[in-house]
Amino acid sequence: MSFEYIQSALAARHAEGLLRKRIVVEKASASRIQIADQQYINFASNDYLGLADSLEFNTLVCTEAGSRSSALVTGYLDIHRQLEDKLCSVLGYDAALLFPSGFAANTSVLKALFTPQEKQLSAAVFQDKLNHASLLDGGLAGCAKFVRFNHNNLTHLRSRLEKTKADSKLIVTEGVFSMDGDQAPVSEISVLAKSHSAWLMVDDAHAFGAVGAQGLGTIESGIKPEILVITFGKAMGCQGAAVLANHDVINYMMQFNREFIYTTALSPIMASVALCQLNRLLAASEARHKLQVNIDYFKWLVAQTNLSPIPSDTAIQPLVYGSSENVLAAQHKLKEKGLWVGAIRPPTVPQNTARLRITITAQHSHEDIDKLVSALVEGA
Ligand SMILES: Cc1ncc(COP(=O)(O)O)c(C=O)c1O
Repeated sequence: MSFEYIQSALAARHAEGLLRKRIVVEKASASRIQIADQQYINFASNDYLGLADSLEFNTLVCTEAGSRSSALVTGYLDIHRQLEDKLCSVLGYDAALLFPSGFAANTSVLKALFTPQEKQLSAAVFQDKLNHASLLDGGLAGCAKFVRFNHNNLTHLRSRLEKTKADSKLIVTEGVFSMDGDQAPVSEISVLAKSHSAWLMVDDAHAFGAVGAQGLGTIESGIKPEILVITFGKAMGCQGAAVLANHDVINYMMQFNREFIYTTALSPIMASVALCQLNRLLAASEARHKLQVNIDYFKWLVAQTNLSPIPSDTAIQPLVYGSSENVLAAQHKLKEKGLWVGAIRPPTVPQNTARLRITITAQHSHEDIDKLVSALVEGA
């Protein structure tokens, strides 16, 4: 029977405890969430600085809802240019391109970069095994040889680079890993890249805004990847993404990136929100300090218990439970104590590493963190 596999795939997901469901959120902030009339302390938000819910709409320079067309027809408005210019000047790049999501930016850039305009392409893309699905999908969709290296393992990456005969080589990593919270050794990767004449692409989705005194993520460590991806849905607290690179790369994307060419340009009101949020993020040094204080406090508290989260210095503090059943049970117990934490299961994370993905934000109080750690110790 046609499409019979839909039923069997759903049944298999259910049987393995891997079925995903949406929940309706009635109200949320970086640190609170209301679901089915119940209030919870929210430890599942990527709104690290607490910027998502307090925008003043009268500060927007443009409130047009729609761009009416793709960017290459008539959809590229002055507000888009302003946002790109601001990102370029802050991050030190020649040019930028806006996308409606980080997923679209990542997949399409990798696909376009490795879609040969000539018949032969001697290229290889080297990806950390824990890279985000959008990066892996983009790498698999392009025509470059797809090579994965063990997570943050420079020796493995070096040996992979030494073996390749490709002319064009790109190393792709996340700045802060979304499900592990640890940071890529970008300085060392950048040295390796240079010594093998490879380019570097960094997805700074979880670093931008949250990492570095000014919140500039990878750039603040003195590294300038050839391609940098910034998403607006995490610390910027809105939606969309930007790809930053030199003029040639951005110009190439404008010619060959199908997700950029054949889509309606980012809504002008969202570009305006993003510009406003970018300015707020850059000025949010107090929130960044508070975020760091909260991360340090969580780590300090946890160090006095028998809990052992994946080592991470960032806002993402994952606690591995192994099986999906165990992590769902832990999540349920936390819920009963008024705490909301994301339970992340395969295939988002590798088999037997289902985890609670705890995210700390600047809006949490020490009492919130006390409650979480006590509940975790009590056996959630
Ligand atoms: C590392 C990473 N890159 C890219 C994305 C996709 O970004 P967006 O949510 O804007 O599509 C995410 C979000 O889940 C992410 O965690």
